[in-house]
Amino acid sequence: MRFLLIILINLAQASLRQRDSCNDQEINNDCSAVCDAEYFNCSKNCENSDCLRKCAEEVIACENSCPCGADCPTGCVDCPEHPLCADECEDAQLNNNDYQICLNAAIYELDFCLKTCPPEIGCHNSCYENYTQMLFLCPCIEQQTTTTTEISTTTTQITPIEPSDVFILVIPYLVDKSYLQSGDGSSQISATINAPDNNYADDAAHALVNGKLHIFGGYYDGTKIARLDDCTLNELTVRLNEERRSGHAALSIENGKKVLICFGPYGDIHKTCEIFNGSTTVSTFAPDWTHKYGGLGLYKNQPTSVGCYEEEHQKAETLSATGWTAIPDHPKRISGHSLVGLENQSLLLIGGEDWGYGGVDQSGIWQLKDENWNKIGELLQADRSGSAIYIGRSVYYFGYESKAIQRLDFNEETEDLQNVAQIRNQPADYYYPVLFQTVPNYCI
Ligand SMILES: *[C@@H]1O[C@H](CO)[C@@H](O)[C@H](O)[C@H]1NC(C)=O
Ligand SMILES: *[C@@H]1O[C@H](CO)[C@@H](O)[C@H](O)[C@H]1NC(C)=O
Ligand SMILES: *[C@@H]1O[C@H](CO)[C@@H](O)[C@H](O)[C@H]1NC(C)=O
Ligand SMILES: *[C@@H]1O[C@H](CO)[C@@H](O)[C@H](O)[C@H]1NC(C)=O
Repeated sequence: MRFLLIILINLAQASLRQRDSCNDQEINNDCSAVCDAEYFNCSKNCENSDCLRKCAEEVIACENSCPCGADCPTGCVDCPEHPLCADECEDAQLNNNDYQICLNAAIYELDFCLKTCPPEIGCHNSCYENYTQMLFLCPCIEQQTTTTTEISTTTTQITPIEPSDVFILVIPYLVDKSYLQSGDGSSQISATINAPDNNYADDAAHALVNGKLHIFGGYYDGTKIARLDDCTLNELTVRLNEERRSGHAALSIENGKKVLICFGPYGDIHKTCEIFNGSTTVSTFAPDWTHKYGGLGLYKNQPTSVGCYEEEHQKAETLSATGWTAIPDHPKRISGHSLVGLENQSLLLIGGEDWGYGGVDQSGIWQLKDENWNKIGELLQADRSGSAIYIGRSVYYFGYESKAIQRLDFNEETEDLQNVAQIRNQPADYYYPVLFQTVPNYCI
């Protein structure tokens, strides 16, 4: 029966792929996820194949009605009445919960800051600067419009942020070695992050929930969840269901509202996954293969993991509403790589240990696209056990063994790899550093 569903969904998706020109691909992905969930709900109560067939028909009708689906081929312009077509950022001050929460937090800080200033205008200005920086991190804020001083067009054309405007907070396994790295490599300044212990981020996985950085598990405490607020890692009362001290991975899902956390160091935890929604953790589908140090990244908007440290396999699996499904094997038996989903739905695999060669670091940059793995480039320095983050049209890869910080630049329109540059080195061999895109001077 799952086979039938897969065929039907593949048919639906094949018809979708013909419409690459559709502008609302992201909304389409969200919509498909809803359809998948409905299918799951529907089929759950089925006892025979007729019922399953009916559910499958419903899922196809559902997919067709999605923006970019058969009934709405060019996206929301064709079906503005579709519930997902309402613009999330239109009147965000009235309608967008995340924006409102973020705005209120910034106003609260500003208010507090102003009231605690001595009667000096410099202090007040500094409060407003900090307020601007906080707002800059809120959803819907048009932060990535070109910031030239020309009073130019009234269009709000969004151009990707330039590397010189990118700042990445890096929290290594020793929290007191945290630093702020600029995307053009020009500056690297130490940052002050407070945490209950200097080993707090050691082997922790990280991901954003509603724009806030969270870290999960790690050697210091395998079930902790902590959130970065105002330069401090605060432990939450909610904990992971499983102890994940190493080898696990975390990935923002559902437009950054939730995080999927999977895998771990040993035993059955290898295969478990759970979802954190900002307040609760719920266990979810287990993959067929263990993916210790196999990472998590989005491929076609679905969480995907590749390879494994322990079993040294090359299996790849992807998670949908109905569970994990096999996708094409990676050409190498691999682990310790970094996975990054691009906007065009493809998945990058960077670096890692090549078990075909006894675990040597590999330099290949691989792309999974249209169910094919291709090597699209080479790192300047082979590496493993690093971390990667996609900002603007660049992937920043912070390597462990070479210490190199390498930037992979992609073409703005086609998202093809254009250049690889080493912009700096990490101050030391920091493995799996926590990365967070932020503003200049954050926590310094
Ligand atoms: C699943 O079914 C239940 C009960 O029939 C319903 O309350 C729930 O909203 C459904 N969920 C989805 C995602 O359709
Ligand atoms: C603004 O933020 C910076 C960095 O967090 C902090 O050092 C500074 O004290 C803040 N300014 C005021 C006036 O609170
Ligand atoms: C998270 O999920 C729990 C349980 O389903 C729910 O009670 C809670 O409201 C959710 N929290 C958020 C922030 O969505
Ligand atoms: C990526 O998507 C854009 C439209 O969003 C399209 O114009 C471009 O050709 C795509 N690039 C690749 C490599 O698929």
